[in-house]
Amino acid sequence: MTQEELRVGVVGAYRMGADHVDRLAHHILRARVSAVVDVDPLRAAEVAQTAPAAESFTALQEMLDADAVDAVVLATPGFLHEEALLRLIHAGIPTLCEKPLTPDPESSMRVMEAEAVSGRQLIQVGFMRRFDAGYRQLKAVIDSGEYGELLMLHLQHRNPSTPPGFTNEMIINDSVVHEFDAVRFFTGSEIDSVQVRVGRTTSLAAPGLQDPQQVVIQTSSGLLADVEIFCSAQFGYQVRTQAVFERGVVAVGEAGSWRSPRMVAAALPWTRASSPVFGMPTTSRCRLGSMRCTRAASPGPPHGTAMPRRPAARQAWQARAVTVSSAWSLRHVRSSTGDGHPAA
Ligand SMILES: NC(=O)c1ccc[n+]([C@@H]2O[C@H](COP(=O)([O-])OP(=O)(O)OC[C@H]3O[C@@H](n4cnc5c(N)ncnc54)[C@H](O)[C@@H]3O)[C@@H](O)[C@H]2O)c1
Repeated sequence: MTQEELRVGVVGAYRMGADHVDRLAHHILRARVSAVVDVDPLRAAEVAQTAPAAESFTALQEMLDADAVDAVVLATPGFLHEEALLRLIHAGIPTLCEKPLTPDPESSMRVMEAEAVSGRQLIQVGFMRRFDAGYRQLKAVIDSGEYGELLMLHLQHRNPSTPPGFTNEMIINDSVVHEFDAVRFFTGSEIDSVQVRVGRTTSLAAPGLQDPQQVVIQTSSGLLADVEIFCSAQFGYQVRTQAVFERGVVAVGEAGSWRSPRMVAAALPWTRASSPVFGMPTTSRCRLGSMRCTRAASPGPPHGTAMPRRPAARQAWQARAVTVSSAWSLRHVRSSTGDGHPAA
């Protein structure tokens, strides 16, 4: 080990944990996986073998006692986070904790209080969307005021399937938790109220799961955000956000699939040629990027265009609200390999 290398322990070595080990071992500079912990000894050893010189342990405390790490990635299920985080705070180990921090406010407060007592900010929750290029670009558009005030957010979060033991509560505190963070990130406001509505349930959900659900969030600044959460959507992993401004609409994540370059952002300025009302953007243009801006260029219907015959198209033409059809991205996702992650 050189002095500059950060020794990282990954705790929980199944889906997310193994991903983290791979990223840290093979894609992150000046970090190495020095320890892999899993209650399943075979799993811990198997994943440790994928990282050069990593030791395997079956308990977090064993790893701490061996003084084997400078930092930790915690990737056990959320209901186990509190105990692990309290140990890590006590040991003074900086930790990236997979979401959720914990499944309920009381245990989260206990963790935050312990961290405050330690006098150091040690825990970061893995809300990775804040670091996606498309999300950052949308945040910059919001902050710039280019299209006026942000009025509403429409968010969609779809996963192919749920892991065993996934509950209705986890749909909110394990999955929609990403959207709670996204709303706070985009608006800079705290969330005042949350309403969860359940309608029709897919026959393809695990027994007892009410899926999909609709969540309406209101921030302290009055902004409304609606979330479609659908954890048994079968076709793949799809995360999309549409931001409605006073003078335009900006969408992130139209390309949608886990395997596609979904967050390679490119702002496509609205032009008449790309208006979906008067001609869908070409597939190749869609593929260019995941962030698309559409806005009304001038008062009144676009110049030089005949009023469409179909009532729906006419309404859109008159309102000059240029919305983007989801047909392309749905087609794309359905034809993708479909190996998206389970509920995230
Ligand atoms: N950021 C995202 O998009 C995203 C996506 C999926 C999951 N997650 C989060 O990642 C975390 C892990 O999820 P997952 O799907 O990988 O879970 P998983 O159930 O697939 O794997 C958890 C692993 O932890 C091990 N484990 C259980 N108890 C342990 C203990 N006390 N000590 C050490 N290991 C223990 C299990 O044996 C298993 O190997 C959860 O918090 C989940 O919400 C985040």
